Amino acid sequence: MKLVRIQDVQNLFAQWDIKTFFRELVEILLEDFSHWDHFQKSARYAAYVKNGVMELMPICGSKLFSFKYVNGHPENPAKQLLNIVAVGMLADVETGHPLLVSEMTLLTALRTAAVSALGSQLMARKKSKKLAIIGCGAQSEFQVLAHHALFNLEEVHYFDLDPLAMERFARHLEGESFKLIPAVHTRAAIADVDIIITATAARGKQHVLKADWIQPGQHISGVGGDSPGKTELDPEILKSATIVVEYFPQTHHEGEIQNLGDEAQKYVYAELWELCTGKKPCRTREQEITLFDAVGFALEDYSILRYVYSLVERLQLGLEVDLVPEHIQDSKNLFGVLKKNG
Ligand SMILES: NC(=O)c1ccc[n+]([C@@H]2O[C@H](COP(=O)([O-])OP(=O)(O)OC[C@H]3O[C@@H](n4cnc5c(N)ncnc54)[C@H](O)[C@@H]3O)[C@@H](O)[C@H]2O)c1
Repeated sequence: MKLVRIQDVQNLFAQWDIKTFFRELVEILLEDFSHWDHFQKSARYAAYVKNGVMELMPICGSKLFSFKYVNGHPENPAKQLLNIVAVGMLADVETGHPLLVSEMTLLTALRTAAVSALGSQLMARKKSKKLAIIGCGAQSEFQVLAHHALFNLEEVHYFDLDPLAMERFARHLEGESFKLIPAVHTRAAIADVDIIITATAARGKQHVLKADWIQPGQHISGVGGDSPGKTELDPEILKSATIVVEYFPQTHHEGEIQNLGDEAQKYVYAELWELCTGKKPCRTREQEITLFDAVGFALEDYSILRYVYSLVERLQLGLEVDLVPEHIQDSKNLFGVLKKNG
C-alpha cells in the first residue's frame, strides 16, 4: 500500500507541470462526472463543532472506493494554522484492500480548483479572458492557475480584506503570463471580468457579492459558501442566475442555495453531471448569468486520488507501507501477524 506524504506531492510537482496536471485532472473529473450513475453516493457526514466543521466524504465506484477526512475552521489562520487540512484513502472494490493513503490538504485545493475550472469551462463564455478572485487565502492561487490552464487568462483582478494575503497571492503568481491587477474593493475587482471566483472564509451569511454588481454574461464560481449558515452571495443573485450544483441533497444543506429554502429546487438548473454528459445544454445565451454553487463533493476527491495514484505509480513516488497486513501466506493466520516472525 502506498503512502503519499506532502513531500511526495512536492516531488510530483517538481517533475509535473501544474497546468498539465490541471488539464488532465479536469479531463478525469469530466469522465467521472459523466459516469454519475455508476457511483454509490451520499451527502457527506459533517460534525458542526464550536469553531468549524469536521467531515467525512465517502464514495464508491465500480472499481474504486474513496473517502476523505477534512475540516474547516475559519478562525484557524489567526492562530497560524491552516483553515482546512485533509487526509484521504483509495481502496480496491474487488478486494476491499486499501491502495493508497494520501495527504489531501494540497489535493483538496487542487481538486477544488480543478472542478471550479471545469464548471467555468462548461458555463462561462467560451472566450473568457478576464477573471476576478475575491479572497486571496489558501485556495486562491490554485483556483487561478486551474482557470489559466483552461482559459489562457489575460487579466486577473484580486481583492482580499487582508493586504498581506493580497501581497502573497501576487508574489506567487507574478511570473505568469496574465496581468495581475489589485483592487481596492470587491466591486472594483469584478466590474469588467468574465469569471468571478469567491473564495472567502467567514462565518455567517455574508454578501461578498451584491446582486446589482453582477454584469450580464458573467459566470460566478462560488467556492466559499460550503456549510450551513456560511454563504457568500446576496441571495438575489440566485434568482437571476442559472445555477448548477454538484449533488443537490448536499448543496441544498451547505451551499448558496440553502438561502432559497424550499424554493431551491425551482431555481437550480442542473447538477454538474448533467452538463458533463450533455443531458442539459451549458450556457445558452451570451448575456446569461451563471453560477456554479460549489461545496465540494466526494467524487472530486475520488478523481484526484485515482489520478495521483496513477502518477505516483508511474513516477515511483510515495512510500510503500504496511498499514494493512499484505502478502501473508495463510490468510487465516492473523494471530501470526502479531508476532514479528509469524
Ligand atoms: N467548495 C469546496 O470544495 C471548498 C474546498 C476548499 C475550501 N472551500 C472554502 O473556500 C473558502 C476559502 O478557503 P481558504 O482555505 O482559502 O481559506 P483562508 O482562510 O485561507 O482564506 C480566506 C480569505 O478570505 C478573506 N476574506 C474573508 N472575508 C472576505 C471578504 N468579505 N472579502 C474579501 N476577502 C475576504 C480572508 O482575509 C482570507 O484571506 C473557505 O470558505 C472554505 O471553506 C471550499
